[in-house]
Amino acid sequence: MTVFRQGGVFFFSFFSFFSELYLLFLTEDNVMLSLLRPLLVISCWCLLLPSCQSRISRYNNGFHYQDISNGNGNGEIYFNGIRLHVESPQHSVSATRGSSVTLPCHYHYEPEIDKPRKTRIKWSWVPANTVAALPSPDVLARETEVMVAMGNRQRSYGNFRGRVRLRRSVPGDLSLVINELQLNDTGRYRCEVIDGLEDESVVVELELRGVVFPYHSQKGRYHFNFFGAQQACQDQDATLATFEQLFSAWEEGLDWCNAGWLADGTVQYPITVPREGCGGIELAPGLRSYGQRHRFLHTYDAFCFSASIKGSVYFLKHPTKLNFTEAAQACVSDGGQIARVGQLYAAWRLLGFDRCDAGWLADGSVRYPITKPRANCGPMEPGVRSFGFPPLSLKSGVYCYRQIDRNNTGKTI
Ligand SMILES: *[C@@H]1O[C@H](CO)[C@@H](O)[C@H](O)[C@H]1NC(C)=O
Ligand SMILES: *[C@@H]1O[C@H](CO)[C@@H](O)[C@H](O)[C@H]1NC(C)=O
Ligand SMILES: *[C@@H]1O[C@H](CO)[C@@H](O)[C@H](O)[C@H]1NC(C)=O
Repeated sequence: MTVFRQGGVFFFSFFSFFSELYLLFLTEDNVMLSLLRPLLVISCWCLLLPSCQSRISRYNNGFHYQDISNGNGNGEIYFNGIRLHVESPQHSVSATRGSSVTLPCHYHYEPEIDKPRKTRIKWSWVPANTVAALPSPDVLARETEVMVAMGNRQRSYGNFRGRVRLRRSVPGDLSLVINELQLNDTGRYRCEVIDGLEDESVVVELELRGVVFPYHSQKGRYHFNFFGAQQACQDQDATLATFEQLFSAWEEGLDWCNAGWLADGTVQYPITVPREGCGGIELAPGLRSYGQRHRFLHTYDAFCFSASIKGSVYFLKHPTKLNFTEAAQACVSDGGQIARVGQLYAAWRLLGFDRCDAGWLADGSVRYPITKPRANCGPMEPGVRSFGFPPLSLKSGVYCYRQIDRNNTGKTI
């Protein structure tokens, strides 16, 4: 909220004027729009005073404060020798889907002040799945509000409405509690304190624990444009993986020689063992990137990200093998649904699901999950084995998915 800044000195008079107007407009729905108005008023006021700029620099009521060192980045400022700190003990938090998470943030003054000051708290974020705009270094411009609080009043926005609150367990505690975490809640959250003079902030990264898996169309390799890839992941109870998620998967050993879309609109693939045809042997192991591709015209596979599931995935006990139609029906008769690929991956990776029986999945593929590699169950490393998309008349087993019965918590199957 730095409006005027000359030679590293911020001016209190303008800030109080600004923040009072700001408070007035706070209750309105569109905070962004209302922000423009006080700015407009200030600049008009300036126009009326021909010597506006020089008056600012001479004005001194002894209550100016100074931006020392790189004040904006450090989460601290100085005014009258009092320092506002906004801090988080954790710069990255990871959680599971469907759970509640707390993004820690607190503030205090140094030295302590006895009189409570009127502060305004804002949490905003940049979603991890923000498609990188070309070429826009200004990430701040893409931040949107999560919640704004003043005194006991608070307001949440967009997809966070009704799902977030401030923890306020001790004075100065501004930690954000997010309930019912969704796959697309990952990203960079900014905790900001505005005390009428200046604002300070700190950033906390939210990650979900989960698993990245490569996914291609039933039609074969490289059939998805960006939007097709987005839809395909969603159909498998997953979301397009972010760069960070694919990078972690690569660190954990994912090696895949087909390029796939990521959530930021780039196309990449992870290589742990460099080889010809996969970027060559001269290139070090890492993520091979084609950069941003045309989101309508270019087609690739997808890297999907799936996180913990609410229900359970199981191999259906059935006296005979089933074709695809029968398999889907058998799961419904059992009180569930045929499992989706993202659900099988989540069960395999997060719950250690291991079953050496091929089974139908909702997309018409046949797979099975192995955590303890052994003879006759595929290669000697853990993984979800795939038979691709066989004819739907093939007789096979089936994996079903069933929500946890809320009336008998714990009894899942
Ligand atoms: C995030 O996911 C939820 C639930 O799947 C969905 O309702 C919401 O529209 C998604 N938000 C964005 C920004 O994609
Ligand atoms: C599966 O078998 C049933 C008969 O049990 C048949 O009606 C159905 O068409 C078959 N479906 C496929 C995809 O072959
Ligand atoms: C839980 O019990 C209620 C009332 O007995 C019933 O209407 C509901 O369908 C049950 N839910 C499940 C998931 O079985």
